[in-house]
Amino acid sequence: MGTYEDVFRASLEAPETFWLKAAQGVDWEVAPSRALDSTGAPFHRWFPDGRLNVCFNALDRHVEAGRGEQPALVHDSPVTGTRRTYTYAALRDEVAAFAGALTRLGVGHGDRVVIYMPMVPEAAVAMLACARIGAVHSVVFGGFAPPELAVRIDDATPKVVVSASCGIEGKRVIPYKPLLDRAIELAAHKPEKCVVLQRPQAEAELGPDDLDWNEAVAGAEPAGCVPVAATDPLYILYTSGTTGKPKGVVRDCGGYTVALRWSMDAVYDVGPGETMFTASDVGWVVGHSYIVYGPLLAGATTILYEGKPVGTPDAGQFWRVAAEYRVKSMFTAPTAFRAIRKQDPEGALAAQYDLSHLRYLFLAGERLDPETYRWASELLDIPVIDNWWQTETGWPIVANPVGIEAAPVKPGSPTFPLPGWDVRVVGPSGQPLPAGTDGAIVVKLPLPPGALPTLWNDDARYVASYLSAFDGYYLTGDSGHIDEDGYVFVMGRTDDVINVAGHRLSTGSMEEALASHPDVAECCVIGVADALKGQVPRGFVVLKAGSERDAEEVEAELVQLVRERIGAVASLKDVAVVPALPKTRSGKILRKTMRGIADGQEEPIPSTVDDPSVIETLRPVLRRTDQPG
Ligand code: COA
Ligand code: AMP
Repeated sequence: MGTYEDVFRASLEAPETFWLKAAQGVDWEVAPSRALDSTGAPFHRWFPDGRLNVCFNALDRHVEAGRGEQPALVHDSPVTGTRRTYTYAALRDEVAAFAGALTRLGVGHGDRVVIYMPMVPEAAVAMLACARIGAVHSVVFGGFAPPELAVRIDDATPKVVVSASCGIEGKRVIPYKPLLDRAIELAAHKPEKCVVLQRPQAEAELGPDDLDWNEAVAGAEPAGCVPVAATDPLYILYTSGTTGKPKGVVRDCGGYTVALRWSMDAVYDVGPGETMFTASDVGWVVGHSYIVYGPLLAGATTILYEGKPVGTPDAGQFWRVAAEYRVKSMFTAPTAFRAIRKQDPEGALAAQYDLSHLRYLFLAGERLDPETYRWASELLDIPVIDNWWQTETGWPIVANPVGIEAAPVKPGSPTFPLPGWDVRVVGPSGQPLPAGTDGAIVVKLPLPPGALPTLWNDDARYVASYLSAFDGYYLTGDSGHIDEDGYVFVMGRTDDVINVAGHRLSTGSMEEALASHPDVAECCVIGVADALKGQVPRGFVVLKAGSERDAEEVEAELVQLVRERIGAVASLKDVAVVPALPKTRSGKILRKTMRGIADGQEEPIPSTVDDPSVIETLRPVLRRTDQPG
């Protein structure tokens, strides 16, 4: 590919040539004659006259090229004690059959399908089936509670929802159907049908608008690949913003396919016949890009793992999977490694397996703390590659580009901006900041292929959230700096988004839930450092004047309320009733000061504080936390 410098410069100086060349790695029904269409700026479109089918590129293409008998997807599920391998030919047939079932249900080009499933292969089958017929999928993470699912159903207005009878969390079986039924009850939009995959661990009772997966597929005519415009949406993936309403990140077909295909070589170094194991969930962007689409577009084998890194049966499962399937690149969140390390600090379990095929460990989703980096590097003795990106961007913004040219690692930095990403650090008025100075991390427009073209049905929110802070730049919402050698350091979010165990959550939506409790007058949720999960939310509430409720009782109700409104994944386990919240004289809650104290920093009390004694009263409550190890 050339040196990193050369490739990076070419991508920014001649993006047309660069991305048209990358587009040659993809099979087009109609090849694009140009790469970028900026006529609608600040909305940019990639490959405006190209036509393709993403599923064809992920499956049929490889079967036609003679890779039909190669494993495409392995479902490895220690929680159910099952494993199943699909060859490319078998996966194509399953996908074509389910695409036929969807077609029979009236789903066609542009229609939306919500997928609310645990980590079963049918989740990937459903995604690819939508792609096959030009429908738009929206996968909702299984850990979200009914109200969160309902908001997404109302925004995406799906014709069909695809779900399963249950998910499995460690040793617990979680019935999904009651959650789905409740969500549909709450939603204003009613899907026409729900297709339910029955799992033996807990079968669901089906209603008149439900259809068993097997019945849906039985007798359906297998569907062929429908070519669509490169600019057509492939999926909507909702992600947390600062308010309770999630943002529907849109992903296009052409740009995403080109970018992912390219990233599989340049970043993840995984090619045809090699194996990638991404331990995430199909409900997150990492799962979309590097469990499902990326490895399949590359003709590789992907592992869809159902289970946690620790627990069932032990903390050696990642190593077992890596050894058993001869994994070349493993990808997960740092929190998974912190969990493994906690159980097996000496790495005795890793030593039991033959990991000689493992070439790289990729970590993303939250800041990689240097301690975890060191532990993983020493244990595995392979490159440990931090990569920084977001649901919005679809693939990494900053990484060590090992497929192009590996750079020396600086712990704490995900290394260099990848080709296509013109990353800058700016101050409050948009002024460029000198090397080493923290500021807002922004990306000069246009964003490369694969990044979001807009938010679903909400161009105005797209502009307001990302493009309006600094003219001509995309606001990442992260702060950090670039050092004198060009290494990017990402320090944390500048908004109310927190990362809990690699899961992106909004403190704003947790506050909305707490505020809905009848005894709560005001509240605030902050993300504090946590040794295992990186960050966890903590809630602080003031009760209404005259409330005579027992504080502990209300605290327990509030924890339960957030679990019911957002889901267990919110991990809000600590809510404290306090006499008052610290505020500025203009009434703004001093969240940053609270966070600093909770994290054990020497946090100066801002001069704008209204009543310093409120902070002093809160200090001992805030300090009750542990620090990242
Ligand atoms: N369906 C239902 N519930 C779910 C769920 C799902 N898909 N995912 C998580 N939950 C529940 C958990 O069971 C837990 O419930 P509990 O409070 O009753 O115990 C709660 O949500 C919090 O989950 P989590 O934050 O994942 O904590 P955990 O203790 O179960 O596991 C880790 C901690 C670190 C082992 C786990 O988070 C992990 O492996 N993370 C990897 C990170 C990852 O996949 N990131 C994605 C982006 S790369
Ligand atoms: P998500 O959209 O769920 O992928 O979360 C994106 C956010 O996670 C980013 O805006 C960052 O705050 C954080 N993040 C992801 N990867 C990294 C990383 N490698 N280093 C630091 N923060 C990260």
